[in-house]
Amino acid sequence: MAQPDTLQPANQPALVGVMGWPVAHSRSPTMHNAAFQALGLPWQYLRLPVRPEHVAEAVRGLRGLGFAGANVTVPHKQTVMAALDEVTLEARAIGAVNTIVNRAGHLVGYNTDALGFLRALREGGFEPRDCRAVVLGAGGASRAILFALLAARARVTLVNRTLARAQALATEFGPLFRAPIPTLTFADLPALQTALDDTDLLVNATSVGMHPHEAASPLPSAIHLPATLTVYDLVYTPLETRLLAATRAAGGNAIDGLGMLIHQGAVAFTLWTGQPAPLSVMRAALTNG
Ligand code: ATR
Repeated sequence: MAQPDTLQPANQPALVGVMGWPVAHSRSPTMHNAAFQALGLPWQYLRLPVRPEHVAEAVRGLRGLGFAGANVTVPHKQTVMAALDEVTLEARAIGAVNTIVNRAGHLVGYNTDALGFLRALREGGFEPRDCRAVVLGAGGASRAILFALLAARARVTLVNRTLARAQALATEFGPLFRAPIPTLTFADLPALQTALDDTDLLVNATSVGMHPHEAASPLPSAIHLPATLTVYDLVYTPLETRLLAATRAAGGNAIDGLGMLIHQGAVAFTLWTGQPAPLSVMRAALTNG
């Protein structure tokens, strides 16, 4: 997991930013600039639109321009790795870098999603250590969730529309953590219901339910949600997804996707500045901004 790392005096002016293509939609500048301001740090967080063919040059530019670091978003999270001096084991296993730290010219790639997710769960009143979990989805987002849960020694069942994709992920991550990862599809209703009846946590790491498809739920309508369940939905547009509304209606604990966005940013903030991130300021900036 990413560890805080003090790099330069945070009271000196410094630049960070988010590299993506496109990057206009990113809410990270709002969140981080509010945090810098709240702590009185003379730092600025910029949008850095980078064409895919210019990723390596842009990363070198961070060093040349003396940036303290950067966030990396779609579609550069994988390709950026080759241009870095070092990539943490965790980011390698997840297969994506979302944070770069410039350590005196040595560029290190981190992934703060897994730790951000675990912190968001704990903030939502759920302790992931040794829990039973069902994860929906086997794409990029699911890799960080799976890594986080397996690192917390959870027993995970993986559900995906395309079984082969779930199986490939289970085959890759299972041996890494010496944990068998059962896989199934949404079509296998009895097995899905049994998995949900026997779990503590359900995580939606698919894009189902995201704007403009708010009426959709990743779970088939015949599925019954136990009242004892905690449900984390990575989708945060809208904040109250159909899945989370159904969880609340069933008496369960529903945690919205904003927490992971804030906490992955907070981990990056601390890696850059060496200071704890002002979480409530960041949440307010995202909900009001
Ligand atoms: P991300 O990086 O956000 O995870 P992704 O790699 O494209 O994006 O993965 C999207 C995930 O949502 C996948 O698990 C995908 O299922 P498939 O592997 O079967 O494609 C899942 N997903 C997307 N649309 C879906 C839908 N309509 N029903 C069920 N699952 C869906």
